[in-house]
Amino acid sequence: MTRIVVVGCGRWGPLHVRTFNSLPGARVVAAVDTDRERLGRIRQLYPWTRCGTDLARTLGSVKADAAVIATPSSTHFDLVRWSLGRGLHVLCEKPLCLRAAQALELGALARRKRRILMTGHVFLFNPGIVKLKELVDSGELGDIHYLSFTRTNLGPIRGDVNVAYDLASHDVSIANWLLGAEPLKASATGGVYLQEGIHDVFFATLTYPDRKLVHIQGSWLNPKKVRQLTVVGGKKMVSWDDLELNTPLAVYDRGAHVTPEYSSYGEFLRVSMWDADVRLPKVATVEPLKVQNEHFLQAVRAGRLGRCDAGFSAGVVRVLEAINESMAKEGAPVRPA
Ligand SMILES: NC(=O)c1ccc[n+]([C@@H]2O[C@H](COP(=O)([O-])OP(=O)(O)OC[C@H]3O[C@@H](n4cnc5c(N)ncnc54)[C@H](O)[C@@H]3O)[C@@H](O)[C@H]2O)c1
Repeated sequence: MTRIVVVGCGRWGPLHVRTFNSLPGARVVAAVDTDRERLGRIRQLYPWTRCGTDLARTLGSVKADAAVIATPSSTHFDLVRWSLGRGLHVLCEKPLCLRAAQALELGALARRKRRILMTGHVFLFNPGIVKLKELVDSGELGDIHYLSFTRTNLGPIRGDVNVAYDLASHDVSIANWLLGAEPLKASATGGVYLQEGIHDVFFATLTYPDRKLVHIQGSWLNPKKVRQLTVVGGKKMVSWDDLELNTPLAVYDRGAHVTPEYSSYGEFLRVSMWDADVRLPKVATVEPLKVQNEHFLQAVRAGRLGRCDAGFSAGVVRVLEAINESMAKEGAPVRPA
């Protein structure tokens, strides 16, 4: 039995409590939040759970094997470091921390302590994105030319990090995973409308090796909830819409070729386009958070993590830092360091 303490019981933490309690071989034994009112809701639903406002004190009275960190992003580094130091396995919400160097430090600590450290990059367990990864890796789409993401909604509006740290962490994790690479440079502009110094909207362009481009539009100040991605390959194109529950993916046998033609009048270019069938692949309807948390439990049991380790998470944070630096320089290209 893996005994879990969930730290942070705001919007997202209670979903971890529910999910882990529904998985065989796991039990949420404790919940921690600095806000007593939020703890009250956990106590009401799960009366056997030890609730406390301080992690160290709560763990003084209950034994746990793993901590789930679901507090605001700016608090992740200290809480993860403390938990690993205490000998706990850790599943931390995205982004793992705010600096890539911190992510690497946490990774090294996890290795020293022989503990699992995983980041909750939940879209890497989203069945639509997993299917898309299969399509990309199979070569059916041809060479990938570019990806284009849109992720907007009205809220939730954060006070500790800007919208790029909050939302681009999802898209960058998907892009790095699908392309199996990290970008060589980032260029981004953003807008600050609600809170001084905190961007509410951003438009980022990332350049990956082999001239692959990724564009991300993200905003928490937008009337419409949109979670979409378009993948354009040399052979086929795919659209993904996370809000289309049954058929999130559409594979378009559609594209264009340009070939030089030679005639007595010299060379000219011939553009040929094709527009064949659209296929809606079957995608399982499973809850991504449940699949992610199962992956964590299996890693704890096996002592080995498949996806979302500290190295991968550091790669995501490196790009977030570059996006932020570029926004501060009004879109100047920045090489992720
Ligand atoms: N994977 C996803 O799709 C997804 C979705 C939403 C949020 N998140 C992530 O989850 C985290 C939490 O987001 P949220 O929307 O639940 O935020 P939230 O503000 O609603 O909740 C955070 C909670 O943490 C508590 N808290 C703050 N500092 C604490 C501390 N030191 N110890 C204990 N409790 C503390 C707060 O009182 C609050 O109840 C963020 O990192 C966010 O990026 C991920």
